[in-house]
Formats: sequence, structure tokens, C-alpha cells
Amino acid sequence: MTIALEREVLPRNLSVPGLVDAVSSLSDLLVGRRAAGDRVGFVPTMGALHDGHLALISRAKSESDFVVVSVFVNPTQFNSREDFDKYPRSIEQDAQGATVAGADVVFVPPIANMYPPGGLTQVSLPDLSGVLEGSSRPGHFDGVALVVTKLFSIVGPCTAFFGEKDFQQLQIVRRLVSDLFLPVHVVGCETVREESGLAMSSRNQRLSREHLRAAPVLYRALLRARELIEGGESNFDRVEAEMTLIISSEPLADLDYARVVDCETLTRPDHLADQVRVLVAANFGGIRLIDNLGARVGGSDMKGRS
Ligand code: PAJ
Repeated sequence: MTIALEREVLPRNLSVPGLVDAVSSLSDLLVGRRAAGDRVGFVPTMGALHDGHLALISRAKSESDFVVVSVFVNPTQFNSREDFDKYPRSIEQDAQGATVAGADVVFVPPIANMYPPGGLTQVSLPDLSGVLEGSSRPGHFDGVALVVTKLFSIVGPCTAFFGEKDFQQLQIVRRLVSDLFLPVHVVGCETVREESGLAMSSRNQRLSREHLRAAPVLYRALLRARELIEGGESNFDRVEAEMTLIISSEPLADLDYARVVDCETLTRPDHLADQVRVLVAANFGGIRLIDNLGARVGGSDMKGRS
């Protein structure tokens, strides 16, 4: 999506303590903290914070001395202007929640600070970003990779905490950190779920009551897939077919994909994999939900997998 600076939606009255909006102010602050011996923890977000985000911040607090949370609704990762405009924004509430959970500073850059005019650089990992979510959301992960690279450059050496909820994003971030020798240690954190099993997401608040009731079918399909794989099912086509059957039995779910993949390459696992990832995506009344689980490959017979 092109970046329209004139239509920024974030309120710019930064009256909340602990908020920083200038790139150089944050960088300078963190250079000082590191010089004083602090370990910097970093949690990038797009705001609309829920318990999933807050768990990342608490984890960052427990493993670092100084925690930065960024709240930036990144225009380049949205596929449409409408989606970007509709993204929930609640900066004051977010700043408060982040601080209670352990943030020492909340970085809320205006779009013009993150994307000054004339920027030409792109960051892309075609092999990882064209599949799964990338098939349905072309360009999405290029936007994620670019903004995460910018944020890492601003924050500097740190431990960065990402949710497994967005597993493809996590792998893309791990790969880009490794490929570009970025001084960042990436930690993946377990998905936080509602009691129903539904993975927490800022999109859940846009679901109707009926769709909210239907959506936990994704988690049930993932659990069944894990049970099959850990029970020794080595034919992943069969596992995917079973997930498809479960999700399709819910009339309000419109399935996009149900896949078993290698944790690193996000392609069909080979015979050496001892861990795989099962991922699903479906629309509920036009709201796209994703979820995933890890599974240990059970049994020793690797033949018959396709
Ligand atoms: P956002 O969707 O706000 O998510 C911020 C972080 O919270 C991501 O690492 C995401 O995986 C994690 N998260 C979301 N829901 C979670 C849940 N239920 N349990 C655990 N963690 C959860 O992801 C983004 O923002 C953006 O793409 C970003 C990386 C900030 C780049 O713009």
C-alpha cells in the first residue's frame, strides 16, 4: 500500500508519560541505557493491545532491564487503505496497559518519522513471504520485513519478543535477523488464547457474536492435527484433509488453508523433520483469522509422506 502521510489517524497529543515519538530520541535513550549496563527488551506492536501483547511485554520485563514497546500501525503491511483505516487505535489505553505490564518506554512514531519521503529501500524474503499468508496478502510480509528492520535499527542491540501466533512472521523475522547479522536476539512466545481456545487477536473484536462462537473450530482442527501427527500419522495430506473436514463442517468458516509445514522453510516437511508446524487460516464473516500449533513427529516410519 502506498503511504499517504496526509491521512495519519493516530492522535498526536502525546500527553501520556513514557511516550517517545522521535526516532533519534529513542535511539539516544537506548544508547544511554546500554552504556549503563541495561539489557534492552523490545516488543513491536501495532497497538490495540490485548492479553497476548501484554504477555510479550511481561516476558520482556522478566528477561530485560529496560523494555521498549513500539505502537505503530504500519501502512506498508496493509493490503488496502480501508483495512489500514479500520485498524483499531487506542494509543492512550495502550500506553497505560503497556506500562502496567512492564514497558519503560512506549515508542509511537508518526508515519513521517518511520517513512521520510524519498525512501527507496525494500526488504523481502520471497521464499518465505510468498506462501501461506503471503499468497492471500501479497506484499504484506515485505511491509513487515521493512518496518521490523527499521525498528531494529532504531532500537539497536536488544532481545525482541514476538508471538508464535503469527508463526510465519516470526520465521521471517528470525531469517532476516540472521541473514543481515542484526544485533537482535529473537524470542518466540507461546500464543495466548481465550478459554474457548480461540487465539487472541485484535481482529476478534470485529467478529459478530455468532462468528466468535464459530471461530474456535480453528483450534479444534489444530489440536486434532497435532494428535494425529504425534500419534504417528506420517501422511501429511491426510492430516490436512482431516483439518479441512473439521473446519468445513462449521458453516460460518470460510477456509483458506490448512497446512503442515517445516518450521523453518514453511514448505512440506522432509523425512528428517522431528518437529512440524500446522497452520490454518479462515474467514469468519469477512474477518480473516489465523492460528497454528507445533507438533512433534511421532513414530519412526517416515515413508509415505508426500
Ligand atoms: P501485532 O499484530 O500488534 O502483534 C504484535 C505482536 O504480538 C506480534 O509478535 C504478535 O505475534 C503478538 N501476538 C498477537 N496476538 C498474540 C497472542 N494471542 N498470543 C501471543 N502473541 C500474540 O505483528 C504485528 O503487530 C506487526 O506485524 C509488527 C510485527 C508490529 C510489525 O508491524
